[in-house]
Amino acid sequence: MSQISGFSKLTKLEKIDWLATHYLSDYPRAEAIIKQYWNSDEALQKLHDEFTENTISNYYLPLGVAPNFDIDGKLYAIPMAIEESSVIAAASKAAKFWLDKGGFKTEILGTTKVGHVHFNYSGDSQQLNLFFESIKPKLFSDTASITKNMEKRGGGIKDIQLIDKTEDLENYFQLYCTFETVDAMGANFINSCLEQFGQTLEAEARTYNNFTSEGTFPEVIMCILSNYVPECLVRAEVSCPVTELGETKEEAEQFVRKFSQAIKIAEIEPYRAVTHNKGIMNGIDALVLATGNDFRAVEAGVHAFAAKRGRYSSLTHVKTENGIFRFWIEVPLALGTTGGLTSLHPLVKLSLALLNHPSAEQLMRLTAVAGLAQNFAAVNSLVTTGIQKGHMKMHLMNILNQFEADETERAKAVDHFKTHTVTHSEVINLLEKMRS
Ligand code: MEV
Repeated sequence: MSQISGFSKLTKLEKIDWLATHYLSDYPRAEAIIKQYWNSDEALQKLHDEFTENTISNYYLPLGVAPNFDIDGKLYAIPMAIEESSVIAAASKAAKFWLDKGGFKTEILGTTKVGHVHFNYSGDSQQLNLFFESIKPKLFSDTASITKNMEKRGGGIKDIQLIDKTEDLENYFQLYCTFETVDAMGANFINSCLEQFGQTLEAEARTYNNFTSEGTFPEVIMCILSNYVPECLVRAEVSCPVTELGETKEEAEQFVRKFSQAIKIAEIEPYRAVTHNKGIMNGIDALVLATGNDFRAVEAGVHAFAAKRGRYSSLTHVKTENGIFRFWIEVPLALGTTGGLTSLHPLVKLSLALLNHPSAEQLMRLTAVAGLAQNFAAVNSLVTTGIQKGHMKMHLMNILNQFEADETERAKAVDHFKTHTVTHSEVINLLEKMRS
């Protein structure tokens, strides 16, 4: 294996050539495979190349659609970028299920985002408080050129507070800053404001008379937004009479009993909660990706929220009262529908158009619904048929592709597995029979 300096300065072809020579020399058709995924539209390919550094090709994910979502009285077809075979089918099934039961209802519980200036200070905390109060207006005025446009759109800096964290870490203080970023995810806006706060803090400290000796000046460690956004929160809910959840009263009651217990298990058992929430993220991530949002940020924030009481727990909850079954999710989602990839990636733009150009709040609502629907579908299967039946049915095509089944073999296999359970070995057996 080889080392190189200046890799980023090579042309795309030179990069591929270098990789093919040094890392992929015994990988058949490496260059051809890399190039096979280039787009023939050169301008489009250049756009993708420039999203990031050292691009050599495009990595495809399927973009699918789950239709029939009634969300707050409007119908949506939700775009989902995901490779897992059963996810879109499960979302579509849940959407259809709730379509004639009142659909999904949502509520925005907050849109506040957070960032910090983390700094050290070893002097008298009373002095620091006085200093902070004296420079607070300057923190706002020094960021006026950054906040001007955001304020025009109804956003900006909400508040700046000084927090003493020295009980947790020696000399550690922070400026805890809150922001409203309207339709932008807002990472650049927030980080620009925070870096200016950091500069103002240090500059003002140097001329502040009451900080006397060297060691008592605040020293900025870092300025960065937080992806933990518990106050950028959305709720989505479904509800219906228990009797609508089964063919008979007994069946409906059994379903509600098992479904509710499954949710309660995820509330108290972290092993289950992680898988339970993973299923929720199947829906959330797929829509977050399709709309060009940062799924790593969403993932990090959601899982921190799921552990906010000190034990990792379910994001969804259930309650049955007076014969009415209610199932809901509360989830923090910092999303944007303007800026970033949203105005660059053609499929992201198309996905947003499919959703009727949502505001960030609207996208929060739809995304929470995608998570709730996914969880309903998963837990519904788990407490009734089990997950493998549906999952393997959807996975059949992947297995057939793996063994390069032709059209006739595929048609026969699909027909056969209408009445048989799909397993990896059963598919192989069937193909072997057809081929012998
Ligand atoms: C698989 O991707 C997701 C599930 O495991 C979720 C769950 O168990 O709730 C089916």
